[in-house]
Amino acid sequence: MNASIAIIGTGLAGLSAAQVLSAAGHEVQLFDKSRGSGGRMASKRSDVGSLDLGAQYFTARDRRFVEVVQQWQARGWVAEWTPSLYNSQVGQLSPSPDEQVRWVGSPRMSAITRALLGGLPVHFSCRITEVFRGDQYWTLLDAEGESHGPFSHVLVATPAPQASALLAAAPKLAGAAASVLMEPTWAVALAFDTPLDTRVEGCFVQDSALDWLARDRSKPGRDHSHDTWVLHATSAWSRQHLDLPKEAVIEHLHGAFAEMIGCAVPPPSFTLAHRWLYARPAQAHQWGALADADLGLYACGDWCLSGRVEGAWLSGQDAARRLIEHLA
Ligand code: FAD
Ligand code: NAI
Repeated sequence: MNASIAIIGTGLAGLSAAQVLSAAGHEVQLFDKSRGSGGRMASKRSDVGSLDLGAQYFTARDRRFVEVVQQWQARGWVAEWTPSLYNSQVGQLSPSPDEQVRWVGSPRMSAITRALLGGLPVHFSCRITEVFRGDQYWTLLDAEGESHGPFSHVLVATPAPQASALLAAAPKLAGAAASVLMEPTWAVALAFDTPLDTRVEGCFVQDSALDWLARDRSKPGRDHSHDTWVLHATSAWSRQHLDLPKEAVIEHLHGAFAEMIGCAVPPPSFTLAHRWLYARPAQAHQWGALADADLGLYACGDWCLSGRVEGAWLSGQDAARRLIEHLA
């Protein structure tokens, strides 16, 4: 039997691996508990257009990633974002321009993963709860009690806390994943009918509940019907207010925003809050990917490297490369 390879998670890491494996002639099947692909690079469709609630932009520093981003740009999946950048420190807002190239998906962040997924076979709204191996092949069990398989290999591409349970068949891998602490982030989107009277399009914030804010509509290809903003709380504030009701989170972060932005802020015509429970690893690692090649079980994700978009892509490449090398 020529069993296919299961990939759990259709964020950038899982899709990066899927690209390599299918280009090498392997059949892959993808699974995601969400209704669509993208994970933390997903964009939320709303009455005021699509909003990037997770990853805001990304940088490319590794040569391999620089090359692939150039290809994505040529295909129209990404565009450079050149925001008017600010910094806010002890309540003082000041321009903070730099030379860093920053990329965003176009016309929304999720355009990248959507394009990478293409026509690959995928099961959405399918939360995998167990991964187990018979004599020769792997089987996946989902939350509805349905089983999927047989698979020759399984690649787990979820955040570390969700990966550790799925890696139980390889205790070393499960232990490594369990050792990774991931911090939460509360995200709030606001939309105003009339544009705010400010030049700020992106701002790194210190000494506040806020960590970052972006004028979403300043990104290339976005809907211009409203002045849309995305605010991210710091990990510490998010952790301390993990179970706060969404309305209270919106009120608090909207207040912090109004205080620091330096112009009149009318009541927003649209608000939204989203809690990312596993937003970022507390520290970076140099693992590339995790592998038990003899068993045929692999793990990848941003948490194996830098905890950034680039790290997720590189980790997926690494997992797929190791799998292919073991087969050769
Ligand atoms: P994910 O994108 O988390 O993908 C994992 C997938 O697995 C998800 O789709 C999930 O639904 C699925 N899944 C989980 N458990 C299961 C299960 N049991 N069964 C099936 N499916 C499952 N990075 C930057 O470079 N720049 C930024 O500006 C930036 N800002 C960020 C802001 C926020 C608020 C957040 C949350 C992240 C940000 N990041 C940023 C980080 C970046 O988004 C991530 O590094 C990257 O998207 C991670 O990709 P991944 O594929 O490793 O994981
Ligand atoms: P980057 O080089 O733009 O930013 C890295 C860090 O450098 C920033 O966090 C900021 O502190 C500082 N910085 C950069 N440019 C600055 C400027 N012009 N003025 C003042 N400070 C500046 O991008 P990189 O390295 O790709 O990092 C990605 C971004 O994603 C970071 O801001 C990081 O905090 C954020 N992120 C957020 C997550 C979350 O859960 N909220 C998860 C993962 C990443």
